[in-house]
Amino acid sequence: MLYIGVDLGTSAVKLLLMDGAGDIKKTVSREYPLYFPHPGWSEQKPEDWYEAVKAGIRELTDGQDAGQVAGISFGGQMHGLVALDEDDRVLRPAILWNDSRTAKETDYLNNVIGKDKLSEYTANIAFAGFTAPKILWMKEHEPELFARVKKIMLPKDYLAYRMTGVHCTDYSDASGMLLLDVKNRRWSKEMLEICGVTEEQMPALYESYEKVGCLTEKAAEELGLHTGVVVAAGAGDNAAAAVATGTVGDGQCNISLGTSGTIFISSRTFGVDENNALHSFAHADGTYHLMGCMLSAASCNKWWMDDIGKDTDYAAAQAQIGKLGQNHVYFLPYLMGERSPHNDPYARGTFTGLTMDTTRADMTQAVLEGVAFGLRDSLEVARKLGIPMTRTKICGGGAKSPLWKRIIANVMNMEVDVIASEEGPALGGAMLAAVACGEYPSVEEAAAAIVKVVDTVSPEPELVEAYEDRYRRFAQIYPALKNVFPQLA
Ligand code: XUL
Repeated sequence: MLYIGVDLGTSAVKLLLMDGAGDIKKTVSREYPLYFPHPGWSEQKPEDWYEAVKAGIRELTDGQDAGQVAGISFGGQMHGLVALDEDDRVLRPAILWNDSRTAKETDYLNNVIGKDKLSEYTANIAFAGFTAPKILWMKEHEPELFARVKKIMLPKDYLAYRMTGVHCTDYSDASGMLLLDVKNRRWSKEMLEICGVTEEQMPALYESYEKVGCLTEKAAEELGLHTGVVVAAGAGDNAAAAVATGTVGDGQCNISLGTSGTIFISSRTFGVDENNALHSFAHADGTYHLMGCMLSAASCNKWWMDDIGKDTDYAAAQAQIGKLGQNHVYFLPYLMGERSPHNDPYARGTFTGLTMDTTRADMTQAVLEGVAFGLRDSLEVARKLGIPMTRTKICGGGAKSPLWKRIIANVMNMEVDVIASEEGPALGGAMLAAVACGEYPSVEEAAAAIVKVVDTVSPEPELVEAYEDRYRRFAQIYPALKNVFPQLA
């Protein structure tokens, strides 16, 4: 049997075909536009996602036995607001996870409703990218459209809807809406009321590895597949990537260096940190996780290399970098504001410590290090909770760089295990489909059978010490500038 994993990303959808043993047969990728209609806004058209998936699945199964495809599932960009009318037509472009228009609504939720109440209802506080502030924004700014909302869902759920006709979501992704009572895995009546939506407007809740339905005749025809193909609910992209790296069960850690950067800690038991600096979400294996999320990670390096340096040879630029641990330049990676742990939509990127002898290589190094320091900020919160973090997996586009992995291992002082495939969310999606089809009895067992560690990058004591020192200095820069940033907005 074959399984399709769909990674609905921010710049492109990646599709992966996996066999029952977990071997990857083929991957394809299709891009779609990202719109920034105003500063801080970030939108995409859900129809573009489905069009890309349609073409992508046909390309993926070209030359393969499409009749063998048994299941499809997803790892999707989280938090985006997709609103449908009574005829299930998309009402407006989706407002994405990295959109920061909701500073006012976020502030209202955290300071008028209050963080304690939010945490009691949902296990989380409001961050500008979460879905609930977006709903409040739409209610205030687009009241006529808001009055026509029949169903609300998350990005990957729109794909499942187009495939099965079912309005569904899964617990891991729903956790990032700030509408789910994460601990009890049900919608929070209080939060729905605060946001002015009803339970009927919400999608049905599933575990990530549960079957939602089979392809409708129309979808089967559009995708070139048969109507027996099972569609499983899937997961938020970070939970799906965690499945793909075997970050399931208790106390496992995964770092994802994608457009966003995350540190993901799996846990069998539900838990919340004192200040809600980390997200407390449901996991795709039926348990829970804590997660710190940076809004710009590999995208900082892409911005620095492509947009500023007009240079796409990342490996050559990194080969110019001299000694690690000794850079006099520091970079704050807050090009889209920052989520964890600062929760500050006004935060901005900076280079600090430039001198006449600063080279471009020093600045490239500072960018890679700044992202690692930003992840370390979230790790510090986890360590304060007493979670002993000595080892992590790594995935995402940034994980292709051996130098970046070495910097991460030393800044975090952790062993970094490298997995055979970097296809985090797409592979996780395919694994969830395999579980839904009964190929494996559970997500944990699928991960045990499929995920293979192929290399480990170990921290080097001298570098760990040098980076400890540099991290302490990095950690002073944001507090020093915090009050300046809102004045730049
Ligand atoms: C997680 C988050 C991002 C997106 C990226 O909370 O906002 O990682 O899911 O696709």
